[in-house]
Amino acid sequence: MKIGMLTSGGDSPGLNAVIRGAVLKGVLAHDAEFVGFMHGWRGVTGGDFIPLDRHSVRGLSKQGGTILRTSRTNPFEGENGGPERIQAMLDRNEIDAIIAIGGEGTLMAAGRLAQAGLNVVGVPKTIDNDLTATDYSFGFDTAVEIATVAIDRLRTTADSHQRCMVVEVMGRHVGWIALHSGMAGGAHVILTPEQPQSLEQICQWVRHASDRGRAPVVVVSEGFRLDTMETAHSHKGLDTFDRPRLGGIGELLAPLIEEQTGIEARATVIGHIQRGGVPSAFDRVLATRLGMASVDAIAHAQWGTMVSVQGTDIVNVGIADATGKLKIVPQSRYDEAALLFG
Ligand code: F6P
Repeated sequence: MKIGMLTSGGDSPGLNAVIRGAVLKGVLAHDAEFVGFMHGWRGVTGGDFIPLDRHSVRGLSKQGGTILRTSRTNPFEGENGGPERIQAMLDRNEIDAIIAIGGEGTLMAAGRLAQAGLNVVGVPKTIDNDLTATDYSFGFDTAVEIATVAIDRLRTTADSHQRCMVVEVMGRHVGWIALHSGMAGGAHVILTPEQPQSLEQICQWVRHASDRGRAPVVVVSEGFRLDTMETAHSHKGLDTFDRPRLGGIGELLAPLIEEQTGIEARATVIGHIQRGGVPSAFDRVLATRLGMASVDAIAHAQWGTMVSVQGTDIVNVGIADATGKLKIVPQSRYDEAALLFG
């Protein structure tokens, strides 16, 4: 059995641990051979791959990024795209199956290819933790840890100057990173895409914290919008899937807070630091287990499925059932955190 693996979409700490987990399980338990497609689906459509043997994945689980590189390429586009041409490429190179490691876009493409008859299984990946079928996606824990450390650091300088710090975190249209890092960092306000708020309410929380002698910390998710805004703030154009690129809401909020409260405010965007560097131990373990399980899914010909974690178990779910609906922060989780605001 020869398996081709790819990493696609925005990277996420733990991708290399998936690759290592899959190769080790495949070699040790299934006598499988592996290749890695370079630059996501671009390597699949272009037939660009490298051999992946046991030696080449040695010590990989602690490395950030992805040794296979990544891109946001649509496998249905381009002169070599589409199921027939991809199958022909697989046949030419005697590759029996594909493991697609990616977020929603990647998994949906993997599901469509499986529907067209290709041997594909998926592994969910995103720091945003927004995929319904999995309790956690690897990379999220690392991103939360990085954001929490940033909040801790900003708090000391905020205290020195008695300033309000607005900290913008990633997450696209869900507020999981904001909720978890904000709670861990003891933020006075957490703003998520699921819960638009008025400027008045935000300023009231900021004033409360300041009145108690605290330097207010506001954690805002990039997808948050004020109740006066129609959509999330976006001034960076569209990505390759025609989705608005988010970011910049922190810079927009800080001067508004300063103007309304008279408290000096600064904005910090943590940005891609959240996706860089070594994965946390939790993410390494999760990613390794998912990688191992993806090879089992191939051995059992579970085409069109993806591996996911439910509780502490790794299970298989249909890609079609797992995509298309975001796992949002439930109201109860927000209310729980909101009790501590101000
Ligand atoms: O989906 C992961 C993510 O990091 C989002 O949180 C963020 O909006 C987006 O990717 C950034 O994408 P890019 O790396 O293309 O700037």
